[in-house]
Order: sequence, then structure tokens, then C-alpha cells
Amino acid sequence: MAATLMAEGATRHGSGAGPGSSTSASLVYFSSASENTHRFVTKLGVEAARIPLRTQEETIYARKPYVLIVPTYGGESGRNSIPKQVLKFLRNEGNRSLLRGVIGAGNTNFGTTYCLAADKIAAKCDVPHLYRFELMGTSDDVERVKQGLEDFWKRQLKTRQ
Ligand SMILES: Cc1cc2nc3c(=O)[nH]c(=O)nc-3n(C[C@H](O)[C@H](O)[C@H](O)COP(=O)(O)O)c2cc1C
Repeated sequence: MAATLMAEGATRHGSGAGPGSSTSASLVYFSSASENTHRFVTKLGVEAARIPLRTQEETIYARKPYVLIVPTYGGESGRNSIPKQVLKFLRNEGNRSLLRGVIGAGNTNFGTTYCLAADKIAAKCDVPHLYRFELMGTSDDVERVKQGLEDFWKRQLKTRQ
């Protein structure tokens, strides 16, 4: 069955993943106003929920296990690399407990802090850092992540049986 494209609609109120709503998407992501990550997620063509852009907005709530895609924003110092909106989302215990893996977005120009936010979240929440990509990703990145996520969820199902 073809996967549904939800990356666009999931950002709107009342679409099932607006601020304060809960989501059963197996992919959750944050993307700032530059929307590189949003463009990448749209190309994946899978159901995805977007963490609200404004920090003062209520966050969203995961109902099912999910993989998080997170861009890094700390700069070369490596401090504050995890976007505040993502910290707010992960402060919720339910959201933390359903996290199964992280995919990092970033820019290799930042050198040692490339995709540091995903490294930090993976270490803190004890989940794998599954993949890294730059900016809005290449077509190879899109294919690898699509296939990688399918395989990942199949393996997850097997380990639970
Ligand atoms: C102020 C600023 C700081 C950044 N710091 C890092 C960094 O430390 N490491 C990294 O890999 N990318 C860093 N980036 C690059 C972003 O992670 C990258 O542009 C990403 O695609 C942004 O995703 P978004 O447009 O969905 O928000 C930084 C970008 C900005 C604007």
C-alpha cells in the first residue's frame, strides 16, 4: 500500500498533529523557518508529524513508537545544539518513552558539531543514531532513509515477538 504523505498537512491545526495534539506517526521531526528538514521529510513520502515551530506553543504528543529527525543548531561551540522546541517535546515522559531512534540533520561545515543534537539525544535516551544527512539531503539520502526506516520497523517488530 502506498504511504500517505502527511509532512505538509501535519503542521496545520486540526490535521491530527497541530500544537497540543497527539500523533500516531512513526516519524516526528523538527524544522526551523529555513525548512531544510521539512523538505527532506516531504520527499520521504511517509506520514510524519512536525514539532511546533514556536516554543511557546504546546508541543505534540506521540501515541506510538517513532523515529525523530532533528537538525543541530548549536554552532561550533556545541552548546545548545538541540533546538528548544525539541527539548520541550522530549521533556514529556510519554514522548521520551516512545522514542526508538534518531536521524540527524546538519551541515558538515560545522566540523566536530556535525549533527551533534542527534548524537546527544541518542546518548541521553539510549536509542541508536540511525543516519546523518546534510541540509535537505540528496536523493541517495532519501532512498537510504526510506529503506532504512522500513527495515528498522521490521526489525523492531521481530524483536518484540
Ligand atoms: C545558527 C546555526 C547554527 C548551526 N549549527 C550547526 C551545528 O552545530 N552542526 C550542524 O551539523 N549543523 C548546524 N547548522 C546547520 C543546520 O542544522 C542545517 O542548516 C539544517 O538543515 C537546518 O534544518 P532546518 O532548516 O530544517 O531547521 C546550524 C545552522 C544555523 C543557522
